[in-house]
Amino acid sequence: MTPQEKLAKCYESFRNKIDFVPEVAIILGSGLGALADEIDIKAVLDYKDIEGFPQSTVPGHKGRFVFGFMDGVPVVIMQGRVHYYEGYPMQDVVLPTRLMKLMGAKVLFVTNASGACNADFSAGDFMLITDQIANFVPSPLIGANFDELGTRFPDMHEIYDKDLRDIVAKTAKDLDIKLQQGVYIQLTGPNFESPSEVRMCRMLGADAVGMSTACETIAANHAGMKIVGISCVCNLGCGLTDNPLTHEEVMEASNKAAPLFKKLIRTSVVNIYSYLEESKN
Ligand code: HPA
Repeated sequence: MTPQEKLAKCYESFRNKIDFVPEVAIILGSGLGALADEIDIKAVLDYKDIEGFPQSTVPGHKGRFVFGFMDGVPVVIMQGRVHYYEGYPMQDVVLPTRLMKLMGAKVLFVTNASGACNADFSAGDFMLITDQIANFVPSPLIGANFDELGTRFPDMHEIYDKDLRDIVAKTAKDLDIKLQQGVYIQLTGPNFESPSEVRMCRMLGADAVGMSTACETIAANHAGMKIVGISCVCNLGCGLTDNPLTHEEVMEASNKAAPLFKKLIRTSVVNIYSYLEESKN
């Protein structure tokens, strides 16, 4: 089966079960899954019930789509994403993103957990993603182009939409939530970085490093979605602190940040939706 056929099959399998049409797609990173339980849920679809869909294997990631209204906004939430380090081909890693586009979502709101390579950041900071570096993982666009989604050679000059970024920045200010801004770099993981690698990321212009997101936003940008993203900087990158890193520590930090992070995401989603509705007129 070609990746195009696989996507079509997953879409058919989804549509046979669910008729909900989301406006905003949200991918929840490590420790943030609980946000999906707070919305007015209209339907839930486990990844395992979608034929051909890659299954998430990371502890702390649930593995289902949640459909419903987030303070009135029709959303689809990925409670658990698929990571490249789990061993899936990159085309499978971004299949859920493409599927959410086919479901009807026009906006992709990405979240993740990251480590700081900018020494001015602190553990627990939120970072509005201004741009990204994705060259350490294969492009999800390698292979036959999905012509029905986008062009062969898509522009990437503004992956993270400037208007949406401004809305999130203003939302954070109104809520009195500290918000850093910076460049996110995706490495493959699953190992955390060495001190030299964190230094390299910094030298390349990154502020935060993680193991997801950049591939998904390339696929979403290719498919014409408007994208906005916030990273929860859970720890200082290796070498910026002497402490060895553990997944548990990352999860603990993101759980701690979750209530404020959820508030920022919810309010931002509402503000983005009002902006989109207004710009229709
Ligand atoms: N590196 C990579 N990914 C991460 C980190 C990190 O330090 N923290 C949370 N996710």
